[in-house]
Amino acid sequence: MSYKEFSYFYDYFNYNADYDKLFKNIISLAKQGGVTNGIVCDLGCGTGELAFRFNSAGFDVIAVDNSDEMLDVLFDKRDEIEAYNVQILKQDITQLDMFGTVDLFTCTFDTVNHLEGQRAVQKLFDRVSLFMDPDGVFIFDMNTRYKHIYVLKNETFDFIDEEADCHWQNTLYESENRTKISITINDKHAGAVYSEEFFEYYYSLDTVLSMLEKAGLKVVKLIDGESFKEVKENTQRYMFMVKKEHNNG
Ligand SMILES: C[S@@+](CC[C@H](N)C(=O)[O-])C[C@H]1O[C@@H](n2cnc3c(N)ncnc32)[C@H](O)[C@@H]1O
Repeated sequence: MSYKEFSYFYDYFNYNADYDKLFKNIISLAKQGGVTNGIVCDLGCGTGELAFRFNSAGFDVIAVDNSDEMLDVLFDKRDEIEAYNVQILKQDITQLDMFGTVDLFTCTFDTVNHLEGQRAVQKLFDRVSLFMDPDGVFIFDMNTRYKHIYVLKNETFDFIDEEADCHWQNTLYESENRTKISITINDKHAGAVYSEEFFEYYYSLDTVLSMLEKAGLKVVKLIDGESFKEVKENTQRYMFMVKKEHNNG
């Protein structure tokens, strides 16, 4: 699934997200995995909040997304900050194709949950494993089953703001391990209303571990992706740091 008009409002309604903290913790995890520089590829990069931070920190950055609208925002931001060395690729990350190997893959803010089911996630893991340097690191997060069932459930959220309002409706399909997210944006400035829908899928930890194993990847560290501390029963987002299997044995 790729984002449409919502892309233009993504940063606007995502003001609570602390990308500095996320970036700091990803850098720390990457370092623990042995990667401190080189090529980083941000998968499902969205508006590039992480990608541009990696660029400022001296990494060679490849930013990948398959949404034309997200890429529009990304190109504008790249022009604005003149970060022309950030390479931008329009690709479906389940069919990722790279010119060479990558030292650090990242995939954050529930992008993995957006992929359409277990087969798609397996394809992503397989492609990452194929293009990751033998000593490379893959860091990704995932919303947990707990979050879908006990937090997102069938809740609605309304963000009222000067320029635009956003109505967010969740519908849980528990027997299908997924939640439908319906978003309506009222763009007061343009006098237009946009609606879009997509699903977020969730998986048990065992399922994720077995998919990683199938791809030849092994979890080196698993933490809570919001507190960046140990995982608890009510953890809402996992953060995984994984490496290729043969490097850890
Ligand atoms: C929730 S946003 C996260 C964006 C960014 N990673 C961040 O941290 O803000 C999910 C992103 O994944 C992208 N995406 C979803 N499915 C994708 C796919 N199959 N291939 C490439 N990008 C995808 C969407 O277009 C969107 O930009």
